[in-house]
Order: sequence, then structure tokens, then C-alpha cells
Amino acid sequence: METLSVDHLLGIKDLTKADIDLIFATADEFKDVINRPIKKVPSLRDITIANLFFENSTRTKLSFELAEKRLSADVINFASGSSSVKKGETLVDTVNNILSMKVDMVVMRHPNPGAHQFLSRNIDAKIINAGDGAHEHPTQALLDAYSIRERLGEVSGKKVVIVGDILHSRVALSNIYALQKQGAEVMVCGPATLIPKFIHSLGVHVEHNLQKALDWCDVANMLRIQLERQDSKFFPSIREYTMQYGLTLDHLNKLEKEIVVMHPGPINRGVEITSEVADSHQSIILNQVENGVAVRMAVLYLLASKINR
Ligand code: CP
Repeated sequence: METLSVDHLLGIKDLTKADIDLIFATADEFKDVINRPIKKVPSLRDITIANLFFENSTRTKLSFELAEKRLSADVINFASGSSSVKKGETLVDTVNNILSMKVDMVVMRHPNPGAHQFLSRNIDAKIINAGDGAHEHPTQALLDAYSIRERLGEVSGKKVVIVGDILHSRVALSNIYALQKQGAEVMVCGPATLIPKFIHSLGVHVEHNLQKALDWCDVANMLRIQLERQDSKFFPSIREYTMQYGLTLDHLNKLEKEIVVMHPGPINRGVEITSEVADSHQSIILNQVENGVAVRMAVLYLLASKINR
């Protein structure tokens, strides 16, 4: 059986193109499974997975839980708000307590970049990063690239612009790595204050004018403004941000081609994207969510095959 080059999914940076191809090929098979009347396979029977969410989530948490259940894994869920973390317990103590219940894999979202790296060195379970602060969100980037491949036939050679709050976005960084490894060209677009200074070292184009960025691209991935990670003002007001960077039908109608519109969610309708665009035939936002389950099934399955049983 073909396997991944990594033992944990900590970030896209660690993956090879062959890893991503293998995840996509496996996801293709699981996508067939979840579209059958009987959507469950026994692949992860007797594997126990803990979903540890130290930050809020709707899509990622539900998508992982569904993927695990479709694979017949035993699943336990942990949300930090209702846990003993509030009483001062450390991350390693929390996770070790959970692992002593014989858990094989941990899916974790944590506000601290590198928390997953730390855990992978200190505990004996497969770790999957479901988002670490403003660092990486690898399964989001995999499902985004998978959705582009599904809509456009391939990722290689495509031009993708990521628009918005690049500075605070783990989705942006993971997308840049995933798209470049698949042979796409990447541009970032947004106000200068929301584009990190190190961006040029990643080999991406930078554009501050949204209409010019749209003229250039095949795909526009619209990001939300991450107000929860902003401790100072990066633009005058939400209204001004929307006037310059909110995607409208008017922008799309000015183009001489039809582009694909994406958004990782949660959407702020009327801020970074209008409802007309989000709900238009050019939008693949709900396809992204659907593909998330198949892609996460693939990641879980491939990493579980590395567990010594
Ligand atoms: N895209 C994404 O990570 O959404 P959630 O925060 O709802 O999981």
C-alpha cells in the first residue's frame, strides 16, 4: 500500500506533491463512498480518535467527526470551554489524560502555532492539525485544492488569488504551500497592512487592487477579516474595507472570463463577499464543505495505516 511520507499532519509545508496526490486519489474513492446509499466503511474499526478543539469551529469539527464516523472509528469530543483546562491543566496533561483512555489519533485545533509539533514529540498518537493560530490549517488547504481540481480539471497551471486578511490567516499560508506544490501560481490581494512582510519569500505575487487581481486569476479565494486576531486597527473601517476588497457581481461582470469563487467559511455576507456572489453558480463554497469530508476521510485513513496495532 502507498503511504504518506509523514507520520502526522502538522502542516502542508511538510508534505510532498506525491503525498498530496495520494490524499486526492484516496479522497476520490471516499467521495464515491459518501455518495452511496450506505455511506459507511469499516476501515477504522477499533481505532479511537479524540477531537480536541481549544478554539471555536463549525465546519472543521463537524467535518472531521463525520469523516471519522463514516470510517467506523470510535470518536470522543473535547471542547476546552467546558473542560478542566479552565482549572489550569496544561496541554500535555490534558492530552495525556485523554490518551490514557487508549486513543490512537488526535485531531486538534489550538490557538498556539506549533502546539501540534510539540504534542507530536511528546505523545504516542497520530496528530492532525485542525488549525494552529495564524500558522497552518492543512486539511482546509487540501480540500480547497481538491475542489479546484474537481471544478477545473487540474490545479497545475491555474492562477489563484487569495483575497483579504493574509496576515492573520492560517488558511492563506496552507493554501500557498498546497497550491504551489501542485504547480499553481498564487497571488495575494488586500490592504498593505494585512499582507505580511515575509510574503515575497514565499514566491507569490502581491496586488492591492481587487479588480486587477480578478483580471489575472482563474480562482478567487475570499477570506474573512479575522477581527478576533487583530489587536490594533489595520484599516479605517469595515465599510471602507468592503468598498475596496468586498467581491460583488459588478466585479465579476466586468471580467471577460468566468472565474471560480471560493471561501473557507465562516462567511461575513456583505463584508468580503456579497450574497449574490456567494450563492452564484461561480461559487463552489458548498462543494468545498462537501469535499472536506472526503479529504479528511483520506487523511485519517492514510495516517491510521501507520499505527502499529
Ligand atoms: N473553515 C474553517 O476552518 O471553518 P471553522 O472555523 O468553522 O472550522
